[in-house]
Amino acid sequence: MAAITAQSTMSQEEQTFADRTIVAHSGMPGALLGILQQVQEHNSHKYLTAEILEYVAEKADIPLARIYSVATFFAQFNLDPQGEHSICICRGTACHTHGSRSLLQRLRHELALPDDDTEPSSITTPDGRFTVRVVACFGQCALAPVMEVDHAIFGHVNEQTLERELQHLGRKK
Ligand code: FES
Repeated sequence: MAAITAQSTMSQEEQTFADRTIVAHSGMPGALLGILQQVQEHNSHKYLTAEILEYVAEKADIPLARIYSVATFFAQFNLDPQGEHSICICRGTACHTHGSRSLLQRLRHELALPDDDTEPSSITTPDGRFTVRVVACFGQCALAPVMEVDHAIFGHVNEQTLERELQHLGRKK
């Protein structure tokens, strides 16, 4: 798979999808969240480009600043291209005290990514296969430490769980 790069423009097909999604959510409570979820899911690299956010703002008649505040507040939204598989480790207090830091360290090592907490909260392997993310809390603290792999939540994660999931995803260093 070729390395992924940021998209610069929306295709006609993406615009049509966004138009339909905005109409479908018209007048619904939480419409903006639903619109952003669907247009992100529709994007081939599962992220919200600046063009998408501007387009939704204009077509849905919502201030762009509000759209950005929603897109940056909720961990489910991505502002960078995402890899084929997403692995997210919780860095909240409960997970931290149950070893999430060493899980993250191991994960980065296994995927040959820099183990650097000054890196952005989302980093993708150069081949575009894996995106490693961190979140502040999944709201599942009783299961600490918690990891999410491609939208599936895993609780009481240890290094064996991590290794098993990486093998399941066909990790190659
Ligand atoms: S601190 Fe990790 S799920 Fe809450």
